[in-house]
Amino acid sequence: MQRLDRILSDAGAASRRELRAIIRAGRVTADGRTVTDEREKFDETTVRITLDGSPVRLRGRVLLMLNKPAGYLTAADDPHARTVMELIPDCYRKLGVMPVGRLDKQTEGLLLFTNDGVLAHRLLSPKSAVWKQYYAEHVGTAAERDAEAFQAGLTLEDGTQCLPARLTPLSAGRSLVEVQEGKYHQVRRMLASRGMPVTYLRRLREGGIELGDLQPGAVRELDILEAERVLLPQTQEK
Ligand code: URA
Repeated sequence: MQRLDRILSDAGAASRRELRAIIRAGRVTADGRTVTDEREKFDETTVRITLDGSPVRLRGRVLLMLNKPAGYLTAADDPHARTVMELIPDCYRKLGVMPVGRLDKQTEGLLLFTNDGVLAHRLLSPKSAVWKQYYAEHVGTAAERDAEAFQAGLTLEDGTQCLPARLTPLSAGRSLVEVQEGKYHQVRRMLASRGMPVTYLRRLREGGIELGDLQPGAVRELDILEAERVLLPQTQEK
């Protein structure tokens, strides 16, 4: 826990003396509430602060997106395989970022990283129900009855029960799949259970965050406050 003026000066917002006046003038909010006492303390790793309505980026808490190429393991390190951590620049690795959830070795696309354990936990929690969208190429062609089975909640071959999901056939052998959970090999197993084994898989979106034009292997830092709003909109309003 640290004083509000200390957190803001560490973030480079202004000097402690200037901040005292700024805070007393009611220009700062912390976790959605205007704070006028610069001595009030907050957890500097989780607090969300705005100054004159704009989010203040606090040093330390970061959220990144990677366009994961095929062939990289989602792991901190591995003696035999390349890992996604090798694609993260040193300056972020030093801040202790880790992948949020995982993508299979052969899956490409959007993978988030953060050093904020609380945020990672919230993103992965079934309670948050963050929808993830995948582009899949597969054997066969998806039909309306497959979409209905996804919507009803599939039972996988080993008896695992899935929550309702969305399947949108695009053309022969190509579909969009949206799921709100992250079971092991989930999308591959869901499509396989309908007789359509996956040959290529790419994650396009998590909540309101899109992969967009990020090149394979490239990393982009996200505005963590904005990202929290689009990833976890239901938990923002208190
Ligand atoms: N579902 C899968 O089957 N694989 C992934 O990597 C992600 C979702």
